[in-house]
Amino acid sequence: MSRKSDAMTSYRLVDLLSKSNQYKTVIVKGWVKAFRANRFIALNDGSTIENLQCVVDFKKTDESILKKINTGAALEIEGELIESMGKGQSVEVMVKSIVIIGEADPNIYPIQPKKHSFEFLREKAHLRIRTTTFSSVMRIRSVLSFAIHKFFNDKGFCYVHTPIITGSDAEGAGEMFRVSVLDAKNPKLNQEGNVDFKQDFFGKETNLTVSGQLEAETYAQGLGNVYTFGPTFRAEKSNTTRHLAEFWMIEPEMSFYDLDMNMDLAEEFIKYTLNHILEKCEKDLTFLDQRLSTEEKTKPQNERSSMGLIEKIKFIVNNNFKRVSYTDAIEILKKSKPNKKKKFKYLIEEWGTDLQSEHERFLVEKHFNAPVILFDYPSKIKAFYMRMNDDKKTVRAMDILFPGIGEIVGGSQREERLDVLESRIEKMGIDKKELWWYLDLRRFGSTPHSGFGLGFERLVQFATGMSNIRDVIPFPRTPQNASF
Ligand code: 4AD
Ligand code: MG
Repeated sequence: MSRKSDAMTSYRLVDLLSKSNQYKTVIVKGWVKAFRANRFIALNDGSTIENLQCVVDFKKTDESILKKINTGAALEIEGELIESMGKGQSVEVMVKSIVIIGEADPNIYPIQPKKHSFEFLREKAHLRIRTTTFSSVMRIRSVLSFAIHKFFNDKGFCYVHTPIITGSDAEGAGEMFRVSVLDAKNPKLNQEGNVDFKQDFFGKETNLTVSGQLEAETYAQGLGNVYTFGPTFRAEKSNTTRHLAEFWMIEPEMSFYDLDMNMDLAEEFIKYTLNHILEKCEKDLTFLDQRLSTEEKTKPQNERSSMGLIEKIKFIVNNNFKRVSYTDAIEILKKSKPNKKKKFKYLIEEWGTDLQSEHERFLVEKHFNAPVILFDYPSKIKAFYMRMNDDKKTVRAMDILFPGIGEIVGGSQREERLDVLESRIEKMGIDKKELWWYLDLRRFGSTPHSGFGLGFERLVQFATGMSNIRDVIPFPRTPQNASF
């Protein structure tokens, strides 16, 4: 069979399958997911989870073409769209001609129509997007990012691009990736024998940003309400299912907002984005829901989630988050069964200790059985910029904790009083000189203001039910791993 004319436009499957009654003769382009019985091609072009069944008349098709219809090959197919007699699809294409656009040798193409482990697929991260699971996850990721921009845009927030290379350490955590052009083998040294960053590209030590917050604050103090949405980098050696060295963060910053308004916005924001995918990603979510329930069945009974994926998302959208102060949370944890029976790895003994993920999960999954916003944390365990409460012990911080994920949002009301901020910076041993511009904001027209950061991949994890954060970002960066 030879290819005829190219007069017709080709269609993306998402349009073709949703309005199939409008089409008769079609051209489609995509990749072979499977080829059964020398007759049935399952074709997918990435625009939807659904494959298009294309029926080949093998008697009329060259042997040389048939041999090349292998999983992974790229094809262009022209044919008649007809109602399908078979099960599993409403329409199918009776193939008139096939062009093999790109071959895929079945002896070496790694993605076969069978179940591959996520570990295996991480090593094939350049091809894993051809699997149903990853294409669903990444379509949802894309729809979620759009929803995020839409939410803030509809509210009149200004989108600002904060720098990726910075000269400041926003979180004061010191877990940063240095950006340098100095000769690694033989860097120039200063008189004290340390690396002389004056000789470096920027004339000072610079790093990849851990957060766009401080720069976003400057813009909020002129534009009112702003948000950033960009990549952030942390050199923490946390090899967990919730940590990446490079992840994306959404950080709104609002002038004249106190902590309660900040919490209201964060809750509304999360619900909006999740509701958006319930509306727009039904097919992908249904597939991931089924995938998750199959996975759950392999777990012991007591570790299985009582809710399915879609049910969990709806639960978040339809219920209020529980707001609890750190102090009350500590009381709950102290009296909790796992604390009394010494089941926690880190026992809660006194006020002031940082919460570990086992504690956060107990509060969310066992005690409240709902997302929790914890607020008013001890100042000792939080960043320098958070507003001091009148008790002089706690700051106006808030963390949002999610079932199965733990911390998804970290935020606070910011310290707007110059003297209080300066004394906090000194106490924490941070170099005040570096923050001169940040302190200027408190000198000129300072206002109460607040903001938060939402870890985008953790939201995608929750929305897709993927248990490992490495499987919700195209090319994960983690300790010892920056392939691709
Ligand atoms: O709590 P964090 O460190 O807060 C900040 O960076 C503030 N400057 C945000 C702000 O107020 N504008 O980080 C915010 C969120 C966390 O709650 C978590 O969801 C995510 O970022 N996050 C990570 N996600 C993936 N991998 C990591 N290593 C992460 N570290 C933080
Ligand atoms: Mg945090």
